[in-house]
Amino acid sequence: MSLLVKGGTVIGPTGAQPADVLVEGEKIVALLDPAYSASIQAADVVDATGKYVIPGGIDAHTHMELPFGGTAASDTFDTGTAAAAWGGTTTIIDFAVQKTGEVVQDGLAAWHAKADGNCHIDYAFHMILGGVDDDALKAMDQLVADEGITSFKLFMAYPGVFYSDDGQILRAMQTARENGAMIMMHAENGIAIDVLVQQALARGETDPIYHGITRPAALETEATSRAIALAEVAQDTPLYIVHLSASGALEAVAAARDRGRNVFAETCPQYLYLTLEDQLGAPGFEGAKWVCSTPLRSKHESHAKDLWKGLRSNDLAVVSTDHCPFCFKDQKDLGVGDFSKIPNGIGGVEHRVDLVYQGVVDGQLSLERWVETIATTPARMFGLYPRKGVIAPGSDADLVVYDPNGTTRIGVETHHMNMDYSAYEGTEIKGRVGTVISRGEVIVADGNYHGRKGRGRYLKRGLSSYLV
Ligand code: URP
Ligand code: ZN
Ligand code: ZN
Ligand code: ZN
Repeated sequence: MSLLVKGGTVIGPTGAQPADVLVEGEKIVALLDPAYSASIQAADVVDATGKYVIPGGIDAHTHMELPFGGTAASDTFDTGTAAAAWGGTTTIIDFAVQKTGEVVQDGLAAWHAKADGNCHIDYAFHMILGGVDDDALKAMDQLVADEGITSFKLFMAYPGVFYSDDGQILRAMQTARENGAMIMMHAENGIAIDVLVQQALARGETDPIYHGITRPAALETEATSRAIALAEVAQDTPLYIVHLSASGALEAVAAARDRGRNVFAETCPQYLYLTLEDQLGAPGFEGAKWVCSTPLRSKHESHAKDLWKGLRSNDLAVVSTDHCPFCFKDQKDLGVGDFSKIPNGIGGVEHRVDLVYQGVVDGQLSLERWVETIATTPARMFGLYPRKGVIAPGSDADLVVYDPNGTTRIGVETHHMNMDYSAYEGTEIKGRVGTVISRGEVIVADGNYHGRKGRGRYLKRGLSSYLV
């Protein structure tokens, strides 16, 4: 079956050009000069006149069904990947979890049991290591060799849950240096944060805003710097800082990169648009909707401005969502009277392509950089390139027709995520996801959904293209 996406402007990291995209089956077979494609007889035609044609989005940081704080993230692989598709994301990389004390491979099997047969789009896994010991280090080698899992997340936060100490981190980094994996780091000093949390609660400071106040930017900066130092000691093993939110942490990443180090980082839309005061500090318990870690930062400091700059300079390489939704009712409200019991996470997998495009509208990013940060670089960073992340012959036909003249109003009434509120309620986007194509199949068109659960495939990933 052939499909021609006709009349659009194809955007890639290196430029924009008028071109028609010819798809055969699941693959892109040619980019055609529009003057010459009139003679092509395709079974189906998608009209992209006046629109952008971009590679399907790759969200490299999601947590479908993640158990957290006595509950679990409210999107299943079914609901969460359908919502992603609606928003122009055609691949997710979710985090399988090894709980402390659990065999790594058992944690991975549990994640496959949740995801397999349920995803609407293609999916891959990183592995969270909740307990670095000799067995876990051996398991890292096996996952890289056999399971297509080439990145491992460690936590400097959450003592007693996912936390690794510096010795464990160093050993995991040394193992990654040998097997070629990427270490992903949740960089916050969890030991110091726990002290601040206990002190705040003892003073009766229980509202959601204290979640942010007890996780100061300085403790993200410190942990980021420490992670970079440990990676340098581990013979410059590649390091990827997740959900970076603080200016100081970004400075540490930029300085390491300027020294020629293999250090990369992502940020998330919530840190570009939402703040400690306006959202986390909302009256009463409302702020619980925006409890996530790292936390939203103060609008009176330069964090958001610096993050946009970091995206331009490539000190921030990727925008992921850290999609980890919890409903307000019966989930976030577990923390009424004690902010430390509010499950951590914000849902946004449906809105990343739109929210980052807003940076193009606002003059913060070029069109090319938009595509690079939401699709091409995540593919290269995590071993999916050139199968994903690029519009080129031989690549999977994951395509989004994006209408720069359309508009999108974000809100709970219209979103498809399994959440009873929207973190971005009322936000107006200048731009709109039109047709979404996943491996040659039109799954969203004209506001109608044609996808189905189970059509998404598990992707075994290779090593990062950024390895040296
Ligand atoms: O608040 C967050 N980010 N929840 C998900 C878990 C994590 O640390 O990424
Ligand atoms: Zn994290
Ligand atoms: Zn630099
Ligand atoms: Zn996360």
